[in-house]
Amino acid sequence: MLVVNLEIILLLIIMPLIEVERLNKDYFTDGVPANILRDVNLKVEENEFVAIMGPSGSGKSTLLHILGFLERPSSGIYRFDGKQIDEYSDDELAQIRNRKIGFVFQAFNLLARQSVFENVAIPLIYAGVNSSERKKIIEETVKMVGLEHRLHYETSKLSGGEKQRVAMARALVNNPRMILADEPTGNLDSQSGGVVMDTLKQLNKKGHAIVLITHESYTASYASRIIHLLDGKVEREELVAQPVEEEKTFIK
Ligand SMILES: Nc1ncnc2c1ncn2[C@@H]1O[C@H](COP(=O)(O)OP(=O)(O)OP(=O)(O)O)[C@@H](O)[C@H]1O
Ligand SMILES: [Mg+2]
Repeated sequence: MLVVNLEIILLLIIMPLIEVERLNKDYFTDGVPANILRDVNLKVEENEFVAIMGPSGSGKSTLLHILGFLERPSSGIYRFDGKQIDEYSDDELAQIRNRKIGFVFQAFNLLARQSVFENVAIPLIYAGVNSSERKKIIEETVKMVGLEHRLHYETSKLSGGEKQRVAMARALVNNPRMILADEPTGNLDSQSGGVVMDTLKQLNKKGHAIVLITHESYTASYASRIIHLLDGKVEREELVAQPVEEEKTFIK
């Protein structure tokens, strides 16, 4: 009995957070199939920082959407946190996503007429957190991304870099296991981009796994591993000898 328990414990310790095997995604346009992802194999460990690079149209966003349960694969296996996702209904996946996955997009995807506070509140409301607890968590999280002085600003009045930090606070507010970021610096000047990357780096150091899509080699080298996609396939994987360290401190 003891041996079996030890085996289970050992399995839990070495189990990757994400495990994808022979994953395929086909889209049908006017009845004609297009193989967007082809036999993709991928692992992401707990606390890992992985970048995905590849030409436009190579399937990066499609892969990230599948990893975040926004889409289902056409075939193949996807295990998240040890569980095969095809065992869950869409509602169950939405709940797991809300608790365990945070998304950051290139275009921020904020509610423009709502305040920073109201935007960051959304995942907590969805998770059923009561209003006094919500207020406390929102204030802490907004402070973590260095925006406490903007808490009640409408997000349309913020700079691009500030908007992206609001999006990060919203992605973080439920303390997710993993943050998926699709070109989060794509719409930012280099200084704001640097702040966003430094923040992601620090979140990774606090224990969140990060999967980041980027077109920029320097941005990718914040990660410890880079996966190169080409025509929907993993072309190669590259280990980053010396990942970029953050330069500024916004996470307290
Ligand atoms: N819903 C869809 N229906 C049909 N084709 C789609 C759909 N979504 C994506 N595609 C196609 O899949 C391919 C990969 O798209 P994807 O958005 O994953 O690329 P990407 O690598 O993220 O590119 P980019 O760097 O330009 O963002 C593209 O050719 C795209 O047109
Ligand atoms: Mg894309």
